[in-house]
Amino acid sequence: MDMMNCAAAAQAAQLSTDELNRLVQVARRAADRGAAELMSHYGRLSSIENKGRQGDLVTNADLAAERIVLDVLAEETPTIAVLAEESGAEGSQDGLRWCIDPLDGTTNFAHGYPFFATSIGLTYQQIPVLGAIAVPFLRETYWGAPGVGAHCNDQPIHVTDCTRLEDALLVTGFAYDRHQRLDNNYAEFCWFTHRTRGVRRGGAAAVDLAFVAAGRQDGYWERGLSPWDLAAGVAIVELAGGMISGYDGQPFSLNDGRVVAAGPRLHPAITEVLDLVKPLSGKDFGAPEVTAMGS
Ligand code: IPD
Ligand code: CA
Ligand code: CA
Repeated sequence: MDMMNCAAAAQAAQLSTDELNRLVQVARRAADRGAAELMSHYGRLSSIENKGRQGDLVTNADLAAERIVLDVLAEETPTIAVLAEESGAEGSQDGLRWCIDPLDGTTNFAHGYPFFATSIGLTYQQIPVLGAIAVPFLRETYWGAPGVGAHCNDQPIHVTDCTRLEDALLVTGFAYDRHQRLDNNYAEFCWFTHRTRGVRRGGAAAVDLAFVAAGRQDGYWERGLSPWDLAAGVAIVELAGGMISGYDGQPFSLNDGRVVAAGPRLHPAITEVLDLVKPLSGKDFGAPEVTAMGS
């Protein structure tokens, strides 16, 4: 399998270990600052708006945290481009670029459910290189870079060596377009729930990836994701010894929106099931017709 590789991307970008270490500490500081801002709004939001698709929210906390993250990055790495969820792209997107999700888990946050994060990943030619994910309620920041390793706070982390779905705890999510699409992950969710010890739905893709990296969950799959959901977490999982791909074991692509992340011994079993379920997706598991959903 032709896997993406953050170490190869770092080399192509000609980043030394010292520079990688500096950049990951910048990402860490920016993520921690963003997450602290989120906490100052937690439980006392002044504005919640819908961004268009049903359930896709933005709050004043998303915007305030993004502002702070952008300020830290502009001060410390003024030449690096950015792609930020709420304010968009600035600078060349193909060189070194920060991918910023100021609040991953907005729905959780808006409901006072304490599972959310600030996620900041660095990509080079659309390949995740390094990143940091701050989960303020747990007082945990996950971070990693090639040559520096993967960590939670100051402890090294590693994916599990789980081999069988029957022994696995998985995690997934459902994109906001699920109301409009029959390819909505419902069939896959049924199959994996049947085959594993359990499937969790955390509601924050960056945290789902961080938990796979730390061995709290054995594997993760999801579709419909954006580069800011994935960049940091994908790099950290890879640095924690995990395997990253698209569905069907296809090479991972940041812009495809599909990801499978797991320990290397379990990863093939996940892609095998996704392959098996593909023809059934949205057909045989009672997913209502799009028109029947009033959309
Ligand atoms: C969402 C979360 C969720 C995932 C969605 C994402 P947001 O990000 O990561 O877990 O299922 O697809 O869009 O909107 O909370 O930043
Ligand atoms: Ca997100
Ligand atoms: Ca977000």
